[in-house]
Amino acid sequence: MAQLLTILQKAGEFLHEKGSPSARLDAEVLLAEVLGMQRIELYANYDRPLDKSELDRFRQAVARRGKLEPIAYIIGRKEFYSREFEVNEKVLIPRPETELLVEKVISYLKAFPIEKPEILELCTGSGAVAITLVLEIEGATVTANDISTEALAVARRNAKLHQVSLDFIEGDLFSGLNKKFDLIVANPPYIATSEIENLPQSVRFYEPKLALDGGEDGLSYYKRIITEAYRYLKDLGAIFLEIGESQAKEVATLAQKVGVYSPPMVAKDLAGKNRAIFLKRANL
Ligand SMILES: C[S@@+](CC[C@H](N)C(=O)[O-])C[C@H]1O[C@@H](n2cnc3c(N)ncnc32)[C@H](O)[C@@H]1O
Repeated sequence: MAQLLTILQKAGEFLHEKGSPSARLDAEVLLAEVLGMQRIELYANYDRPLDKSELDRFRQAVARRGKLEPIAYIIGRKEFYSREFEVNEKVLIPRPETELLVEKVISYLKAFPIEKPEILELCTGSGAVAITLVLEIEGATVTANDISTEALAVARRNAKLHQVSLDFIEGDLFSGLNKKFDLIVANPPYIATSEIENLPQSVRFYEPKLALDGGEDGLSYYKRIITEAYRYLKDLGAIFLEIGESQAKEVATLAQKVGVYSPPMVAKDLAGKNRAIFLKRANL
């Protein structure tokens, strides 16, 4: 019967040949998942034999990764802001960079406290951002929107998993909303249509186009959100948007043209790349 270490080594080599940039780690994560262990426990069990059912399940998982399917879809979850969220191929896998958006909202509310802030997250996908905001901001009520029924089903399950209550609204951005919010947060699709074919295979083939495609110039959601949002913001309300690293100037220009916001502020991520933009509704 094959032993754990040999199986891991073979799977690592196979995934490396298939082009995974993290072959050995992938093999360990998938094997730990199949065996119901923490990854670290594998090291103490190198001579453990695998039975047929374990081996079959591991082979299936490795075969999926061999086609460069993201690990998060194979194991069905992803960590965001130190919590686990369910994901499937109907939602974008939450990215570590997006934690900056959450951090900015939290630090803004620390600097300018609002009692029981009402927050809208547009384009919620898995719900990771909206649910994190409910959990991290005391007294916050969060409304989460997405146009995809399947994505909202995942977000609802994630809310249940973390035992929080949110208002979920299915619709095209602001459609179906009839109230005003203190803050509007969004990580909308922002890849230019022609750029999608240049994304890594694991993104291009597996993550939903609906979550990626930002129109011809990648800016179509920003245009709509920035033009429409002020009608859904309370006086002095604010908008936090994730942006692509090269989009800060264009998004800032859009905001200035609308003429109802104070000068935009751009935030950089840990890699020093422009990653989020902040707009405050001016007191007109
Ligand atoms: C980039 S993903 C962001 C997901 C999640 N908020 C995150 O940061 O991980 C964008 C999301 O926008 C949704 N979406 C696309 N077009 C939309 C629209 N017109 N109105 C609302 N949501 C939309 C997609 O279904 C997808 O879930």
